[in-house]
Amino acid sequence: MPSFKAPRGTRDILPAERATWGRLERTAADLAARYGYREIETPLIEQTEVFERGVGEVTDVVEKELFRIAPRTEEAESWSLRPEPTAGIVRAYVQHGMQTWPQPVKLTLVGPMFRYDRPQAGRYRQFWQFDVEVIGDPGPAVDAELVELGLRFYRDVGLEGVEVLLNSIGDAACRPAFIGELTDYFRVHVDRLPPLERERLERNPLRLLDSREPVMQELNALAPKISNLLCEACAAHFAEVRAHLDALGVGYRREPALVRGLDYYTRTAFEFYRRGAEGQQQALGGGGRYDGLVELLGGKPTPGIGFGIGLDRVVLALESSGVAAEPEPHPVAVVVGADPDGTVDRLRIATRLREAGLAARAELGRRKLGKQLEAAAKEHAHFAVILGDELGDGQVQVKDLEAGTQRLVALADLARELARAHGAHRHGPDETEGRPS
Ligand code: HAM
Repeated sequence: MPSFKAPRGTRDILPAERATWGRLERTAADLAARYGYREIETPLIEQTEVFERGVGEVTDVVEKELFRIAPRTEEAESWSLRPEPTAGIVRAYVQHGMQTWPQPVKLTLVGPMFRYDRPQAGRYRQFWQFDVEVIGDPGPAVDAELVELGLRFYRDVGLEGVEVLLNSIGDAACRPAFIGELTDYFRVHVDRLPPLERERLERNPLRLLDSREPVMQELNALAPKISNLLCEACAAHFAEVRAHLDALGVGYRREPALVRGLDYYTRTAFEFYRRGAEGQQQALGGGGRYDGLVELLGGKPTPGIGFGIGLDRVVLALESSGVAAEPEPHPVAVVVGADPDGTVDRLRIATRLREAGLAARAELGRRKLGKQLEAAAKEHAHFAVILGDELGDGQVQVKDLEAGTQRLVALADLARELARAHGAHRHGPDETEGRPS
């Protein structure tokens, strides 16, 4: 038999780990709602041109990492799996005329992204992001609000020591002068440039600053910094972003070398790292302003800003910092019985418990009662509901598997009794006492 495996760079998230993911998703949804974001879903595939124009043709994400779908016929358009959600969300903003909605439009999604990168710890070919986008607000206050939201997410999920690296990368007014200086600088060192970087020097010099090649890291350390060349408007915007962060009491570290890897960014750019782990190119999240993107994708000139937080890396960071995995929910009751042919009764009673809102499982096999009880204890059920001779009188035995006690309960009262006893156990007797059941 062949042995099948999940494709390289992808993995299965098994139930024990998935419970932690659920917690992150709930935190993301709750925070996004509190900050006024509305949920959106976009397709996992887009026309390739959305990414080529949006993210930029001469970027790692498009040039090296895009999962392109082979067209089924000669004339079919080219699609790709989304490597990031911003371009697709902006495409949707333009397509659905969201510029006529009250501005800004604040959108959020959590979902999988795909990049054909070299897999390693924390770098996958399918990974998940918590993404937020604010379209139609030029900032600078919203830039600070967004950074604050990102940091709050890490704190709320229990990850300590996350800091934000902050920069401004200018706009169409000041970028050309910077790119000129950058080009001059790298031309002097052209003999040391690896082939791809040499080619990019002609097509998109800014992206040399993202290179992971060792020689480039050396060269990049001494390369000109955009922060010294910002035009007046960009410098003032950046100062205001920082003033708002200061006023909110949000700490940040200025990082003049931070340029992000995608072409759509203007002005504010930031990345989240665990303190001391900045060098490993393992950002826990990143984002920035993209004031030209809506226009690039066919809309009217509209500013925008957002971030993406890498959930896979957050889960890894939680594990490595010893934060306990989220426990999986246990059944409240397992319905068991000695009669191997009693499945109709067991199923009927479990169904009634579920109708009453309780998590219940019925034993549907033919194993011995002892084994059934063992299984119920192993899955940490709170109660075993044992069907026996008393069923003829409309009664069942309820065994509290945690307390080790057992008593007879009328079937008519079963759901209410279990809910009461389970609630009292979970919240303590004081909280539930006197509540109508
Ligand atoms: P990005 O920096 O390319 O930005 O990705 C955001 C985050 O996704 C990264 O900081 C990282 O945590 C996670 N990530 C990226 N690639 C991988 C991978 N191969 N495996 C695991 N995690 C990964 C964006 O995608 C922008 N769309 C963010 C944004 C939104 N900017 C404005 N709005």
